Amino acid sequence: MHIDLQDKVAIVTGGGRGIGRTIATTLAQEGVKTIVIDIKATYLEDVADEFSEKGFEGRQYLCDVRDFSRIQEVIADIEEVYGRIDILVNNAGVAGGSPVDSLSEDQWDLNHDINLKGAFLMCKAVIPIMKQQQSGRIINASSFAAIVPSFGSAAYASSKAGVKQFTRTLAGELGPWNITVNCYAPGMIPTEMNHFAELPQERQQELLNTLTLRRWGEKQEVAYLICFLASDQACYITGTLIDVSGGKLATQIPRMAYEKADSQS
Ligand SMILES: NC(=O)c1ccc[n+]([C@@H]2O[C@H](COP(=O)([O-])OP(=O)(O)OC[C@H]3O[C@@H](n4cnc5c(N)ncnc54)[C@H](O)[C@@H]3O)[C@@H](O)[C@H]2O)c1
Repeated sequence: MHIDLQDKVAIVTGGGRGIGRTIATTLAQEGVKTIVIDIKATYLEDVADEFSEKGFEGRQYLCDVRDFSRIQEVIADIEEVYGRIDILVNNAGVAGGSPVDSLSEDQWDLNHDINLKGAFLMCKAVIPIMKQQQSGRIINASSFAAIVPSFGSAAYASSKAGVKQFTRTLAGELGPWNITVNCYAPGMIPTEMNHFAELPQERQQELLNTLTLRRWGEKQEVAYLICFLASDQACYITGTLIDVSGGKLATQIPRMAYEKADSQS
């Protein structure tokens, strides 16, 4: 099987750093004309440098995914330049909060406005173009928190659970236009969002012990999934949440397998 994404046109929101950046560069490496949207100008300058150094095709736009009028401007410009949009990756996100009794309204709104409403607004702007093409791939960042939330994550987890049901609803609406809509649930991938790799060793071990594959995930491992979901080969997959978490809590006490393996070696 050969995944061929050559000359497709993709948008990656929040592609300035972290997982989104790796998704963007991986798509570009595959010959995709890759448009990166981010709220931080400095990240976009860095993306522009990398793209020109590596000869990747694409554009960068400063845009807050909460701002529908700016999104409309950006999408109109992309349509004028490229004439189509094949892939939309709604990766932009924030994580923050605290237990509900001390959670501020601002924190609640921030998580929902960027993680969930941002994906909605991007889809709203892109869907008419995909409908006209009678094809498209929409891929949304959910989270393992949408499956099993952690302590103090009500704002984040509910926004990401919302992304999951938004994805399924949209998949149902867009089937007649041959547009697939899926989401993915990364588990624990150290980034500047979560600083996992900087936690005390003991805490890191505690987190890793929840995984069937006892190691941190890599950004590249998410990017490979995105390439597959964006490909022709994934044409019969829609409305799903794909777990990319190294089998987090796939069994009740994953570390038992490691203890057994250690005792046998
Ligand atoms: N890292 C993980 O382990 C993990 C786990 C589950 C889900 N996720 C999800 O994956 C996505 C990427 O996570 P990450 O760890 O790479 O985070 P990150 O903080 O490193 O990157 C997020 C990017 O989104 C951009 N962004 C934030 N708000 C924006 C806005 N309003 N408009 C446009 N861009 C905006 C940021 O500038 C940044 O470039 C997020 O949706 C996150 O919730 C990550």
